[in-house]
Amino acid sequence: MIYLDNAATTLKKPEEVINAVVQAMNSMGNAGRGAHEGVLQAAMKIYGTRKKLAEFFGCKRADHVVFTCNSTEALNIAIMGTLGAEDHVITTQLEHNSVLRPLYRLKKEKGLQISFLPTDEKGDPCYEALPECLKENTKAIISTHASNLTGNVVDAARLGSFAKEHGLLFILDASQTAGVIPVDMEALNADIVCFTGHKSMLGPQGTGGMCIREDVEIAPFKVGGTGVMSYLEEQPSELPTRLEAGTLNGHGIAGLSAAIDYMNVHPERYEAEHAMMQRFYEGVSDIEGITVYGNFSAGLRAPIVALNIRDYSSGEVSDVLFQDYGIATRSGAHCAPLMHKALGTMEQGAVRFSFSSFNTMEETEAAIEAVREIAHRG
Ligand code: ALA
Repeated sequence: MIYLDNAATTLKKPEEVINAVVQAMNSMGNAGRGAHEGVLQAAMKIYGTRKKLAEFFGCKRADHVVFTCNSTEALNIAIMGTLGAEDHVITTQLEHNSVLRPLYRLKKEKGLQISFLPTDEKGDPCYEALPECLKENTKAIISTHASNLTGNVVDAARLGSFAKEHGLLFILDASQTAGVIPVDMEALNADIVCFTGHKSMLGPQGTGGMCIREDVEIAPFKVGGTGVMSYLEEQPSELPTRLEAGTLNGHGIAGLSAAIDYMNVHPERYEAEHAMMQRFYEGVSDIEGITVYGNFSAGLRAPIVALNIRDYSSGEVSDVLFQDYGIATRSGAHCAPLMHKALGTMEQGAVRFSFSSFNTMEETEAAIEAVREIAHRG
């Protein structure tokens, strides 16, 4: 199989990550819940991983790194825990449903007001419309760092400095960029960065979290056991326990820890992924009948190419790619309804090819040839 569905989840993980999970499953107790070697091991691994993540995302405090089971959970915590009745938020049309659905829910339940930055023909946000979107009750800007459909990277620094200038909270969804390009919350002026471990960070599914700036208050989304202050009726107020009720995914976190080590010693990954994405884009762009979506003139991109072949159903193209060529892609709507609307692909969806550093140029060439053949079949 040629696996080109890495934006959904990276299937090939470093051996070190797999070994770390197995080792943790053979040795880890429940951090904070017991007085024995296994508990200490778990606590040390989890705290060590917070420290690595704080460094990775430029978060000043390791105890402000909160673990969740994915970025959807982190985004729900961030959105539900900071926005209230009658607040207004600015967001983009690039968003995934992990941002949109919590916002729509707050709109329905509490009257949240939402403004969407318009999108240009290449799928980038029109940043110059930011001032028009601003209202007296604007509380936050919430944006993805890259579109999961087109791979376009958002100018998060620009959003962050606008947010800072106007005293707004800036919540960044780094699902498609963590492990691809640097995500430094200080440099981007981000107040909360939400991430997932199982995509380009190369960690296990069920891992993710959020990095929170020192002065940001977030109400707990769930409450329950923390292993500390058991006689308190309320959730303890200190981070990270404030937002981490229940046993953490220690085994997954051990894998994520090994994944960060792997990423740190393989900085060449971005160049390799970018080169394959660029070659694939160039290879398919001049095939008759192909429409490619997104902005390929930008310097930074997530390693994603979304396309359609004539008016063929994207689902059928994806099936043919897999059945006849062994190439795994994602098709249809990609949980990004407004992006499909802006690109005019609501009906057809799109076939998404997404690369990881474990892919090769030979696989990239094979994928170009497969697209060429399908387009020429007529
Ligand atoms: N959000 C993931 C994707 O884009 C699952 O495929």
